[in-house]
Amino acid sequence: MAAHMRERWGSGRGFLLATLGSAVGLGNVWRFSYVAGENGGGAFLLVYLVMVFLVGVPLLLGEFALGRSTQRESAAAFETLAPASRWRHLGLLGVIVAGLILAYYAVIAGWVLKYLSLHLMGSTQEFAAAGFANAFRGFIAHPLEPIAWQFTVMALTVAVVTGGVERGIEAVSKLLMPALGLLLLALAIHSVTLPGFWQGVAFLLQPDWRALTRPQVYLAALGQAFFSMGLAMGVMVTYGSYVAPQRRLPRAAVTIAIGDTLFAIVAGLVIFPAVFSFGLDPAQGPALAFVVLPEVFAQMKGGAWVGAAFFVLLAIAALTSAVSLLEVAVAFAMHRFGWSRKRASLGLGALIFVLGVPASLGFGPWAGLTGIGGRGILDVMDFVAANILLPLNGLLIAVFLGWVWRRRDALAACDLPSSRLGRFWYFSVRYTVPLLVAVVLVRSAWTG
Ligand code: TRP
Repeated sequence: MAAHMRERWGSGRGFLLATLGSAVGLGNVWRFSYVAGENGGGAFLLVYLVMVFLVGVPLLLGEFALGRSTQRESAAAFETLAPASRWRHLGLLGVIVAGLILAYYAVIAGWVLKYLSLHLMGSTQEFAAAGFANAFRGFIAHPLEPIAWQFTVMALTVAVVTGGVERGIEAVSKLLMPALGLLLLALAIHSVTLPGFWQGVAFLLQPDWRALTRPQVYLAALGQAFFSMGLAMGVMVTYGSYVAPQRRLPRAAVTIAIGDTLFAIVAGLVIFPAVFSFGLDPAQGPALAFVVLPEVFAQMKGGAWVGAAFFVLLAIAALTSAVSLLEVAVAFAMHRFGWSRKRASLGLGALIFVLGVPASLGFGPWAGLTGIGGRGILDVMDFVAANILLPLNGLLIAVFLGWVWRRRDALAACDLPSSRLGRFWYFSVRYTVPLLVAVVLVRSAWTG
């Protein structure tokens, strides 16, 4: 497709909000809270911040630059820049893994919709009566109900992506992202009034230095940074390809990194004080958002409202991220196979829905199927995607940016010609990022 026929973001604000929509997702709330809880709270946060700014920002900027300078979706961007070498296949892995992530992401987003509907209809008593842990387990073990919710998520995602870049993704982001910010702010203000506020703050911000000696903490922080910023899967290449040439990329990359990180921290400041205020334990794993919090909301004064607001927030965050994951695959199919947007969204949406069904069944009829340390199907998919494939692909993209792409072209594409920032960026993608990611991957593979 010729460059002038490509879809574009309608405005710089639209681009920022859509990209933030991709970055801010279940990863910031559902994933960040339990990964931080399991990896030493404040110490994890410290390692996480280092990963975001040393690894995340340079890669994010590089991905934007790849997309904008080629005006191609992820897979075609690499083919355009390295037509004769093996590097041309680099974008393809991202497209496939984005589909894999969306497959299980939609399952969890489906749980969010279920809990949203429970809180909206004020019918959490049933869950309270059965005990929240049991009720949650019972719900996700059901062979059909969670799949119906997962289907709903995929249908909504397909509907947005079918609408196109400007009139679907951008329009929805412009509508929902400000609402998301307001909801988070309201919840944060409410959180300050809780008796356990300072205990929650201490948990999130006070480092437990011993955690720094565990290699898994670094891997978890790295995986989380990639996941949360939506890196290494070509999402940001594809979103970057809809950016007009005159937009400044470095500022956008830094804004998104700060926004995404702030969102995760504030979400932590909503979750942990609530958990401590009711004497519960934060290190409960992925169930934190669906077991501990509903219990908190049930006990809290006005908790039905707070709970509804929390799950609306989570649903918005999940939808705009799911949209970005589908868009990568859709843009790929449109370019490669010449499919229409509608056909690509519907076809790939259906395929990814089917791929996600086993992840859901893994909590019920297929609970016997486990791997990699006794993990169920969804957790295996998440572990492989976030802790192995994301860092691995991120490493390869960094090597591409720092060693394959010509220095001058890369810097120009990043809007960083021959400045100190430019030298810093180039050094990062050439040395810091590959080394750091390689060391973390090898060390954690070593220790298991
Ligand atoms: N960043 C999103 C979240 O935090 C998920 C997501 C969107 C993602 N696009 C991605 C994860 C690309 C990995 C790669 O929930």
